[in-house]
Amino acid sequence: MASGQLSRAGALACSGCRHACHVMLYCDTKTQLFGRIPIRHIILMQMRFDGLLGFPGGYVNPSEETLEAGLSRELLEELGVALPISAEDHVDCCHAPASSPSSTSRLITHFYVKKMEEEQIKEVEKEAASTATDHGQEVLGMVRVPLYNTKNGGGLAPFLSHSFIGNARSQLVDSLLRLDMIAPEELHKALAHSLKIHT
Ligand code: GTP
Ligand code: MN
Ligand code: MN
Ligand code: MN
Ligand code: MN
Ligand code: MN
Repeated sequence: MASGQLSRAGALACSGCRHACHVMLYCDTKTQLFGRIPIRHIILMQMRFDGLLGFPGGYVNPSEETLEAGLSRELLEELGVALPISAEDHVDCCHAPASSPSSTSRLITHFYVKKMEEEQIKEVEKEAASTATDHGQEVLGMVRVPLYNTKNGGGLAPFLSHSFIGNARSQLVDSLLRLDMIAPEELHKALAHSLKIHT
């Protein structure tokens, strides 16, 4: 755990804090784009009702349910699938940035990562677009993260240049590095290019 970060237990000890839990679901894949660009991993994010990209999940009230049971409940609403999440899938948590410099945020965001089988991920995508109660309302659709850079600058760079909710963008980038999903040089190239796209 990096300094300045909260532990799961430390976060739960905060009285008066609200909690939100989100998860990065992913799998390995051998599929190639155009039959030649390895896709390597399917990572699921969602286009939210507010037009921002984020991970599936939501608010959890720890006085009513465990963080993980609350996250599973949110996943059932947003993905239409009951996925067990365990405390071992908890990666980190932090105070969400305050809305104004003078106020302190009372929201703690918890981040989880869960590796799945490719068939399970495809099942999640299917249910999210059909039986999920939040589909078309709080969730406009699931999206996969392009992990490659194409010759003409397509792929991860333009994906990262979109707008993300909270710190979802850094949750994604940190996970790509930590889980060794992309070479650091390739990631840094995409990050640098993503900053130039709308300027
Ligand atoms: P409601 O049913 O409308 O309450 O939504 P929800 O329970 O699904 O909550 P939501 O997913 O919007 O998450 C709650 C709060 O957590 C948001 O208002 C954001 O501040 C924050 N948040 C949402 N998604 C993410 C994410 O992917 N990463 C991080 N770090 N924060 C997020
Ligand atoms: Mn085509
Ligand atoms: Mn929700
Ligand atoms: Mn949500
Ligand atoms: Mn909710
Ligand atoms: Mn809701």
